[in-house]
Amino acid sequence: MTTKQLESSLQEARLFAPPADFAAAAHPDAAGLAALHAAAAHDHVGFWADQARSALHWHTPFTQTLDDSAAPNYRWFADGTLNVSVNCLDVHLAEHGNKPAIIAESEAGITRTLSYRQVHAEVCRAANAMRRLGIRSGDRVVIYLPMVPEAVIAMQACARIGAVHSVVFGGFSAVSLRERIEDAGARLLITADGGQRGGNIVELKAAADKALAEGAASIEQVIVLRQTGHDIPMTAGRDQWWHELLAAESPVCEPEWVEAEHPLFLLYTSGSTGKPKGIQHSSAGYLLGAKLSTQWVFDLKPQDVFWCTADVGWITGHSYVAYGPLANAGTLVIYEGGPVYPDAGRFWRIIEQHRVTIFYTSPTALRALMKLGDHIPAQYDLSSLRLLGSVGEPINPEAWMWYHSVIGGGRCPIVDTWWQTETGAILLAPVPGVTTTKPGSCTVPLPGIVADIVDEDGNSVTQADTGGSLVVRKPWPSMLRTIWNDNARYIDTYWSRFQNRFYVAGDGAHRDADGYFWILGRLDDVLKISGHRLGTMEIESALVAHPRVAEAAVVGRPHDIKGEAAVAFVVCRGDRPIGDTRALVEELRKWVAEQLGAIAKPDEIRFADNLPKTRSGKIMRRLLRTIARGEPITQDISTLENPAIVEQLRGDSA
Ligand code: WTA
Repeated sequence: MTTKQLESSLQEARLFAPPADFAAAAHPDAAGLAALHAAAAHDHVGFWADQARSALHWHTPFTQTLDDSAAPNYRWFADGTLNVSVNCLDVHLAEHGNKPAIIAESEAGITRTLSYRQVHAEVCRAANAMRRLGIRSGDRVVIYLPMVPEAVIAMQACARIGAVHSVVFGGFSAVSLRERIEDAGARLLITADGGQRGGNIVELKAAADKALAEGAASIEQVIVLRQTGHDIPMTAGRDQWWHELLAAESPVCEPEWVEAEHPLFLLYTSGSTGKPKGIQHSSAGYLLGAKLSTQWVFDLKPQDVFWCTADVGWITGHSYVAYGPLANAGTLVIYEGGPVYPDAGRFWRIIEQHRVTIFYTSPTALRALMKLGDHIPAQYDLSSLRLLGSVGEPINPEAWMWYHSVIGGGRCPIVDTWWQTETGAILLAPVPGVTTTKPGSCTVPLPGIVADIVDEDGNSVTQADTGGSLVVRKPWPSMLRTIWNDNARYIDTYWSRFQNRFYVAGDGAHRDADGYFWILGRLDDVLKISGHRLGTMEIESALVAHPRVAEAAVVGRPHDIKGEAAVAFVVCRGDRPIGDTRALVEELRKWVAEQLGAIAKPDEIRFADNLPKTRSGKIMRRLLRTIARGEPITQDISTLENPAIVEQLRGDSA
């Protein structure tokens, strides 16, 4: 967190009450929201039990709501059984069978609309095909697909048979894919011949082949979606085409009734070590969170067209593309392609063409689009919009105001939603028909969420505008259950800091005099680059895997558009490269992209003879951050093992 961020949020005094017409039709309305908060405050567990009974379709009703006997490994609704895909699809067929579930636009501008009935049939076919390949409840399936309807269909099909999906973002490299497959022990991989991005083909199958050639031995079969149609090699006995497999299957598939706690998916995310962690979510609790938050925060109504721009490779694409909107019988738009392809008006044209009513995106996307000028959105009819959302990183008041006036025409509430891969669903956000918003604040917790800010000793910070650590005091249904294969890391990362008393989010935050939360950023070594989580240690381990690199330290630096950018300090084997280092810098950046994915490429790489370390050998990251930002050094460097290095790190920018 920077003082600049703190100051700018402290100066922000503008208030935006919900427009009267929006508030009049909103659900929940003020009375409804007050009743939800009152019920949750009166009986936390009973509140969630009531919600789970009314919002979900159970095969066997649960009798026990919260089992905290193995806390902090909480279990919710544990003796109930249900099926997530039935809750997202089957339950809507009678009333909404012909309603569009997914409107998918390709980069080339081709629109495919699939009704609930069609999505249901495809999900059943895919589920049957997986069963025929021997996939059973509990088996892991890795999905490495572009942002096409089949990505959602594949996820829902896994849910239908109780298989545990782990979606790997298509922008991640072969190495990242292999590591995730190996950690999950996945038996099946679902990928595509390729994806589309900015007029180019993303070679997904080539990356998948590389991952499988270099390990990932647990994979027995590969299903390949034909998407681009370009020539790719198929391995006989291992690879099969999606369309051929599904053509042979029935559009009816008996669901697997799973226990509430049955893992629905793993999603790997970065933490403060070099190894991504497989966040494990449950079936019932997760779905409940995704479903209710979609209602509460997005006020989703039958006539809405909801566009969340997130890829299914991220948690936002799970909760607010693949599950939440479908659980509410919504119509969702998905788009596969670059945000400014073939021109800067792409996003606004999609909104105009499909009459999008609710638009949910990241501050990075907004800042990038804002920079291109107001004349671009002005060319499009954005009058269908009624609600705007933001997620993934703090939104600066300037971008918020632009979103409000230029995109929302001053009439749409903005929901700034705070949550994490681990929380499963939005925890802090305005309820748009009720909450008065302030640019840059995610406002207050949703019903049933007991969030707080604590000091170093775990005491509640009651004084306004004083920073602390964001925590959640009581368990909630959509919380992560564990880290796959590493429960010790689960406890260590989220709980042990304050003796398992509450969930520690890893973010710094403060509350203003009205009790509104302002998120200040990560407290650990996790960066948020374009809203995507990246561990500095991950980038460091990628760098040191290069033969020229002996040691590396990566820190974040504020970036106008991406929010944050990575700066790497590198010590080479042998002599320090001097003079024109551009070729080596490019080689290292490309190397990081191959190891992790293009989003992890450092913006800048500086070479030095040494890294600044304390006498006990610890890298002084705070000092490196100051240097990367070009700020004057105010911290004490007298404890440095090698004080002379500071000049070199400062002057030798590559
Ligand atoms: C950050 C994304 C400020 C935060 C859903 C959190 C935010 C991390 C916001 C989780 C927001 C998310 N305002 N910061 N509205 N939403 N963050 O797991 O640092 O990719 O801890 O989940 O994003 O990132 P993740």
